[in-house]
Amino acid sequence: VITSVRARQILDSRGEPAVEVALHTNKAVHRASAAAADAPEGAAAASTRDAEKRKLLARTVADAVRVINDKVSEALVGMDPQQQAQIDQAIIDLDKAHHKAEIGMKAMLAVSIAACKAGAAEKEVPLYKHITDLVGKSTTTLPVPAITVINGGTHGGNRLPIQEIMILPVGAKSFEEAMQMGSETYHHLKDIILEKYGSDSCNIGDDGGFTPNISSISEGLDLVIAAIDRAGYNGRIKLAIDVAATDFCIGKKYDLEFKFAEKSGQGFKTADDMIEIYSQLCSEYPLVSIEQPFDKDDWEHSKKFTTLELCQVVGDDLLMSDPERIKRAVNEYTCNALVLKANQVGTVTEAIEVVKQAKDAHWGVMVSHRSGDTDDSFIADLAVGAAAGQIKAGAPCRGECLSKYNQLLRIEEELGSDGVYAGENWRTTAGT
Ligand code: PGA
Repeated sequence: VITSVRARQILDSRGEPAVEVALHTNKAVHRASAAAADAPEGAAAASTRDAEKRKLLARTVADAVRVINDKVSEALVGMDPQQQAQIDQAIIDLDKAHHKAEIGMKAMLAVSIAACKAGAAEKEVPLYKHITDLVGKSTTTLPVPAITVINGGTHGGNRLPIQEIMILPVGAKSFEEAMQMGSETYHHLKDIILEKYGSDSCNIGDDGGFTPNISSISEGLDLVIAAIDRAGYNGRIKLAIDVAATDFCIGKKYDLEFKFAEKSGQGFKTADDMIEIYSQLCSEYPLVSIEQPFDKDDWEHSKKFTTLELCQVVGDDLLMSDPERIKRAVNEYTCNALVLKANQVGTVTEAIEVVKQAKDAHWGVMVSHRSGDTDDSFIADLAVGAAAGQIKAGAPCRGECLSKYNQLLRIEEELGSDGVYAGENWRTTAGT
């Protein structure tokens, strides 16, 4: 049984405060932390930051730590950690009057994940297996990694307006081979960028992708294609982008020059111009997935683009991992894939529910880290246990990214011949 829940403030990959929880049972202690990155404006997810203005630029999570140590611990003591749904309900009930605002999503998730780890240990099964049981199925799948290789947008100090260019090694035979292909391509890309733009161009952004001073999406995709070619993986690696268009939507226009000090005035595009740009890119490159191509509330153009069926269209800010917004998007066919950010949902049980909701709609599911993340590897087990098919955890470098990818290598080894890599079925894995 759970004997106590203790929380503390730690720092994430951006050096910002995050909540870590140590959940004690009568047998062991289980630790978990949740990414601290904030939710977009208007999300159901509330911030766990508090108002201690002088400390850490007013972004401390001391209030959440206090609530966990006092109220949450008291509510969970004596419960069986295998009863994930009851535990999550107890956490939600505590905070009901506050719409998850008092404890805060990230703090809730840290407690919920720690309980999930304790539940697996109590059952003496691996975490992904426990999650598969919670999902209610028996299928596990090793996800295709969406590996960040170039950063831009608000995640990189270059001129590129979009946030990420990713590679998907769908032609690999195993997760291990996928990481090898991804890592080799990443290193070839570094050489190509060095040759073309000089030694100060190989800095990396928030997700570990390189940030050469390119200004157009196609310039970035050309570099990545050259790297794939040099690595010898032509045709076996597909491309994906995360536009994060909400960040440069001004009024109803998209400012592709939002980071340029001296703007030419050519940067403003309408949503229909953006549809043209994306359609062109899909015809010229092996681009199979576009995340958040429009503003978070531009349901109309997202639908218009999705119905062209040119690629996977992933809803990030559009959905905010919120069941209500997902329901609307399913009904209206506003996108055809979910990026799951568990710290926007609240608890493990709710995260599993939204994965089911997306899979029932035959959507793709990309389990995601956050750009400000901790070294907790829970999402790796979640992606396998819920048979998501895709995981996005940044570049094949930096500790907080590798904690997830390396955990997937361990899981694949442990599963042996039972380990099925999603590969070409990355959008349609069975399981949930
Ligand atoms: P975020 O980025 O954590 O900054 O939201 C990750 C993503 O957009 O997928």
